[in-house]
Amino acid sequence: MQDTPLATSLGLANRRIVLGVTGGIAAYKSAELIRRLKDLGADVRAVMTPAAQEFITPLTLQALSGNPVHTTLLDTEAEAAMGHIELARWGDLILVAPASADFLARMAHGHGNDLLTTLCLAARCPLAVAPAMNQAMWACRSNQDNVALLQERGVTLFGPAAGEQACGDVGPGRMLEPTELAQLTAGLFPRQILTGARVTITAGPTREAIDPVRYISNHSSGKMGFALAEAARDAGAQVTLISGPVNLATPDRIKRIDVVSALDMYEASMSALKQTDIFIATAAVADFRVENSQNQKIKKQDNSGSMTLTLVENPDIVASVAKHSPKPFTVGFAAETQDAENYARQKIVRKGLDMIVANDVSRQDIGFNSDQNAVTVIWKNGQQPIELASKAQIARDLVTLIAKRFREQDKKSG
Ligand code: C5P
Repeated sequence: MQDTPLATSLGLANRRIVLGVTGGIAAYKSAELIRRLKDLGADVRAVMTPAAQEFITPLTLQALSGNPVHTTLLDTEAEAAMGHIELARWGDLILVAPASADFLARMAHGHGNDLLTTLCLAARCPLAVAPAMNQAMWACRSNQDNVALLQERGVTLFGPAAGEQACGDVGPGRMLEPTELAQLTAGLFPRQILTGARVTITAGPTREAIDPVRYISNHSSGKMGFALAEAARDAGAQVTLISGPVNLATPDRIKRIDVVSALDMYEASMSALKQTDIFIATAAVADFRVENSQNQKIKKQDNSGSMTLTLVENPDIVASVAKHSPKPFTVGFAAETQDAENYARQKIVRKGLDMIVANDVSRQDIGFNSDQNAVTVIWKNGQQPIELASKAQIARDLVTLIAKRFREQDKKSG
């Protein structure tokens, strides 16, 4: 259900960019650059030199990036929030745009006299610079020597472009346009099998309230769904994980939405569809909920000896997703105790799935609370077993299969 072509969208999904902004008239374009980087899926933190703040305010960059802007090295409060070493480690790339002649000189000669140069010294990630300056400054020997030195050390140079300059000169020295810079930045990262895809995964059990203290649920641990979320993220996808109540930490760089009941999970899944190319339903959704769950704790009736609860059917989330138009590539799970393959094939048709992952939960060594699993992946014209392995390994193999089938379908429909 893409609203943008996959090949060009989200090339920076899950990527963290530290955007350094130095003093120059092109600093106003940094605002636009943040938007373009975010459009491609990046998380951006801006770092501004004092000179940059003469051209554009930190508030503007903060509003656009959605993150605090970093301006000073020697500020105890800022250091307590995110220290400069931590910030250097946070980034997958430091991009300095615009990079002034003064900044390039300081960077080339190992200065650490402001936050941005210190970050460049401390960073273990790649560095890229987009110079912006007057054409004579760009051409001058000392600047050219500094740029050559930086390139020799592996710093990537974006531009500069030639053309009319703010000062009226014409020649090389203009900063590249934000759209081009964002695309070049995405090009620094290798494309992966799910780069550009938005994946939504349901995981864990649901809880159906009887009253405020009691509920009906199941033994699902959520481990398979969480492992799949990590595998999809590692394959380049932007992942939303809709989780029932589980005891698992949120994996890094994954958007987690916590839900309790099947109805909550249904609502969250339907809302996520606008931004979903692939939907994977690993959740063990309760098939029924209590018709009249009570707002007050139900008291034991003396000597009654029994109690009756009326259950009503919950919506089938994955089947509803598969009915939605346009439909994401939809993957379901089938936990069976016998004849798993046969039941799974029926489920593909009944629920309108593109793929189903069948596992035999009668086996003691795999399934619900185990760290291991063994499954058979089934689709319309084929199937493939994945032998007993850790859930993390199964998840990686599953993501490879899902990506392959998804790309094939995407090609056909596109
Ligand atoms: O019908 P059954 O529960 O065996 O189907 C399992 C598959 O359907 C799983 O992918 C599960 O996440 C999904 N499911 C769902 N909503 C339900 C019940 C099951 O999405 N109410």
